Amino acid sequence: MGVTGKVALITGVTGQDGAYLARFLLDRGYAVHGLRPYAATDDCERLRGGLLDRPGFHLHHGDLADSGNLIRMLQATKPDEIYNLGAQSHVAVSFDVPEQTADVNALGTLRLLEAIRALNMQDKARFYQASSSEMFGNAPAPQDENTPFSPCSPYAAAKLYAYWITRTYRQAYGVFACNGILFNHESPLRGAEFVTRKIARAVARGESLALGNLDACRDWGHARDYVRGMWMMLQQDAPDDFVLATGKNHSVRDFVVAAFAHAGTTVTWSGDGLAEKGICARSGKTLVTVDPRFFRPAELHSLRGNPAKARERLGWVPEHTFETLVAEMVDAEADLMRGGRHDVLAAE
Ligand code: NAP
Ligand code: GDD
Repeated sequence: MGVTGKVALITGVTGQDGAYLARFLLDRGYAVHGLRPYAATDDCERLRGGLLDRPGFHLHHGDLADSGNLIRMLQATKPDEIYNLGAQSHVAVSFDVPEQTADVNALGTLRLLEAIRALNMQDKARFYQASSSEMFGNAPAPQDENTPFSPCSPYAAAKLYAYWITRTYRQAYGVFACNGILFNHESPLRGAEFVTRKIARAVARGESLALGNLDACRDWGHARDYVRGMWMMLQQDAPDDFVLATGKNHSVRDFVVAAFAHAGTTVTWSGDGLAEKGICARSGKTLVTVDPRFFRPAELHSLRGNPAKARERLGWVPEHTFETLVAEMVDAEADLMRGGRHDVLAAE
């Protein structure tokens, strides 16, 4: 038990948000129990640099596909707050493994909520669901809590089920359950196959990049700001749903330009469509090409959130900007290149 006397359970603790949230809660005196699905290879990289050995931090094997495991974990840990971050979180991959995505992202949420109900924990445990701006699909920007959902990927469809079942358990059984509808948030701990990390890594290594849709726009914030918002939702008097976003968006092409600029390189563009290239203004070297392998069967063109409700009701304001995010990600990759490590959990 931590100084606050509070206990948190985090599914998906080995992911980007799980690592930042665990650190955030430990700093506030929580005891933190993290669940990770079994992996044959090392899945704890993000928890190194201070978390794994920290008093109050406990790691367990746990899987959203296993109801009995979830029930036993709730019984054993008796959490005050449950953060359901576990997911197959890659949108493009969800087109390849739609059934597994639905099982974990949709039914996994139901299993966890059912475990709360079966154990009669709804008066004790507060529940956070990692909902996503992907659920808005191509609804016109800015999107907020009242924007109609229009999912256009298996990932988004599964997350939409999880969103509604979370609201259902709040209304039907009185679970203190909140949906955080989070727009894209990144960091040096972002998975290597997401576009921002892929760009930051190539820029730091001086490698050329093959990308998909350069025109897609996303509202990119920093994961550190967003895990603070998750926690704030569970500290309210009543459960509710909140959008977390910066309110500004940029294209993938903008991210490329900003990342190279941070490394001292100016990119100019030539050609259209599949023939488009990003070229180093000084040397003429091709830095970016377009590869249709990275196109998606259905694309979400532009996300930009309106975080007014979170600002007014939670007092949540992001501290990081697009520019500081890009700089931190490129610098962290350069550190890795020099043999350093992502000790970003220690650095605020
Ligand atoms: P992430 O880095 O991909 O982390 C997801 C975590 O879920 C990983 O630890 C993963 O473990 C775990 N997981 C996968 N399958 C599981 C299962 N069957 N049971 C339990 N855990 C499982 O994602 P993130 O960026 O931290 O995002 C956290 C959550 O927020 C996800 O639910 C994501 O969909 C949602 N979200 C993210 C964003 C964003 O921009 N980052 C925005 C909106 C919503 P392995 O790595 O071992 O597979
Ligand atoms: N991954 C990837 N790789 N995306 C690329 C690439 C590439 O080489 N080239 C262009 N893109 C475009 C994608 O088509 C998409 O429009 C955009 O870059 C962002 O892709 P991702 O970084 O993979 O993130 P995402 O927006 O699909 O999903 C993330 O944000 C969601 C919230 O809106 C994930 O974190 C989801 O889990 C999250 O729910």
